Formats: sequence, structure tokens, C-alpha cells
Amino acid sequence: MQAVAITPRQPHSARLVDAPLPEQDSVPGGRGVRVKVLRVGVDGTDKELQLGLYGAPPAGSDYLIEGHESLGQVEQAGPEVKEFAPGDLVVATVRRPGHSLYDQIGSQDMTTDGIYYERGINLLHGYLAEAYVESADYLVKIPPAIRNPAVMMEPFSIVQKGIAQAFEAQRRMRIWRPRRAAVTGAGSIGLLATLALRLRGLEVVTFGLTTGPSLQARLLADLGAVYLSSREVTLADAAKKYGPFDLMLEATGYSPMAFDAMQALAKNGVLVWTSVTGGARTTTVNSDQINLEFVLGNKLLLGSVNASRDDFVRGVSDMVLAEALYPGWLERMLTHPVAGLGRFQDLFKTLMESNAPDQIKVFCEVA
Ligand code: BGC
Ligand code: ZN
Repeated sequence: MQAVAITPRQPHSARLVDAPLPEQDSVPGGRGVRVKVLRVGVDGTDKELQLGLYGAPPAGSDYLIEGHESLGQVEQAGPEVKEFAPGDLVVATVRRPGHSLYDQIGSQDMTTDGIYYERGINLLHGYLAEAYVESADYLVKIPPAIRNPAVMMEPFSIVQKGIAQAFEAQRRMRIWRPRRAAVTGAGSIGLLATLALRLRGLEVVTFGLTTGPSLQARLLADLGAVYLSSREVTLADAAKKYGPFDLMLEATGYSPMAFDAMQALAKNGVLVWTSVTGGARTTTVNSDQINLEFVLGNKLLLGSVNASRDDFVRGVSDMVLAEALYPGWLERMLTHPVAGLGRFQDLFKTLMESNAPDQIKVFCEVA
């Protein structure tokens, strides 16, 4: 079968490979499912893979099949698969268990291992191929009503985990009813985070880079969120007018912003960091002031990576609700489709230009 692969750590090595068609019975216990790939989204991590900054191939392979944001359709299911049937739409999770205690109880997103196994990123092949095989344990069923936006379920799961973790951690307050939220970053994660927070009834201010009219600003306005450009207003000033913020989610991919966000957080509030910053940037921060305010205000900083299957399931519910409350909103994020695996060069070229105006989600229409 055709697949799009790279040689990890070698810049711009993307190519089409003829990979073996995976066998459904290669998964033990009759739990294998063969999935025909319909769509695959790409993001900042794929950018880093393209640049040779990140990732590793599976043991014994000299290439890595890319793609970790998938939507597919079940083709074949093993005898012990009761929850899926051919024709069902499914999304696959990304991380697979390693060895730590967390991995052993199905919480590999919380692994304490040094290495982690992630399909399409690290040590496991991804989904940018005609088909893949996976255990039913790692698949999530998608209702036909959200077929179109479901290719964004994986990034949505990142948001779901961040928010769920924030609420879980805030049980320390005994009573915590967040009212004002802020999201830094108006890319896919930032927009999806704003949506999820609006669905939970919070006032949301979202910060992006663009000034003037943009698709991002229109989408946020349609959710009833406030959009501000971080080029025009500092987070600290915005917090004076709209905050301070009880719940903040950082998703700019720019580490100085992660520290800036610390200065806009309310007393007893929680700031969730989700950006994976692969570089080596350093910055100067108001360390005394931030430290003092965090201590005197009982503030919490929380890092969050990847997502559990439950986070995907919550994402499905939220997408269904979003379709009812904001019909068509999610699909407007799907700005840059590229048809066919054969056009992988266009796919990555478009991805690399991700600061282009009105570009949000780049994805491959595989079938
Ligand atoms: C993926 C996550 C993954 C993280 C770190 C992100 O792009 O969406 O699933 O855990 O990269 O590799
Ligand atoms: Zn990702």
C-alpha cells in the first residue's frame, strides 16, 4: 500500500513508500481492526518532523510513516471485536503503552518512561497511508453527524485533556467555579480550546498574532469570544480589562508567551501549558513578581501532553454539541484540504506556510 514516510532527523526527506498492507490478525487476541484511512490532519509536530528536529522510526525500519491526526473507516474486525463493525467511522489515539505503572493501567499519556511510543511521531508508524491496523482498545467511534470535522478529534483530545486536568486539579479548592478564561494562541488548538470553554459556559478571551480581520477572529466572534492580538495588547493589560483569568490554556508554541500568561492568572486560578517547544529559546521573566503572585495567590501551573482515550470520547460529545450549537463552525476550520497521498509535497509545503492568512487546518483527503 501507499504511505507517506520520512527519515526522521533528516530534513525534508518525505517520500511515498510502498509499505506492506497491515494484517488485521497481527494484533493478538482477535482484537485487531483494519481501518481504511479517509483523512489525516497535520500540525506543528509534523512541521518539526519535516525539519528533522523530532521523531524516530520503528525498530528495524529506516523510515517512519507520518500522520497522527486521523479519521478512518473500519474495513475488517477480528473475532473478539464487539464494539466496531465494517463501515464504522473511527479515530485512533496516538500514544501506546511503554513500561511505567501509568502505562500499565492504560494512562500512557501520563508515562514516566524516558521514551514514549506515539504513532506517526516516535517509534511507531502513523496513519498517512491507505490503511492501518490497530487494536480496538485504541479506537474511538465517530457518529456520522460529525464525519467532516472528526479529523480534528486528535487535537481536540489535547484540549479535552488540558481542561479535564485543570478541573481535576482544582478540586484542591473544594469549590471552584471558573468564570473568565483566556486562551493564548489562535491556531487549531487555541480555537478548539475556545470552543470547549464556551461550551462549558465560560467567558473567553483568545489571543493570536494577526491584527485586523481574519478567519480566526470571525470564528472566535461567532463563538461569542473576544479576540485580541498579542501584538496590540499585552496579556497583563488585557487581564486588567477582561480578567484576571480563572482558567488559562496556553497553545502558542512560543515559550515566552507561556511565562507571560503566568502574569494574567487570577488568584486560585490554573494555567495549563500545552505547547511542545522543541527549540532552545531563552527569555527574561519577572521572576520575583511571578513567584510572589503565585505564592500569595495560590496559583497553579499545569503541564499537559497527549490525551487518553477518555479525552477522545469527551471530544466526540463536545463535537456533537458544537454541531448543534454552532452548526458548521468546526468545518470552517478545515481551510486547506490536499487531495490524495500523492500530493504529499503540497501538503507539507502548505503546512510549512502556516502563517499564511486564514490558514487553520491543513489535511490530506486520503480517500
Ligand atoms: C500530538 C500529541 C503528542 C505530542 C508530543 C502532538 O502534536 O498531538 O499526541 O503527544 O505531539 O509528541
Ligand atoms: Zn499533534
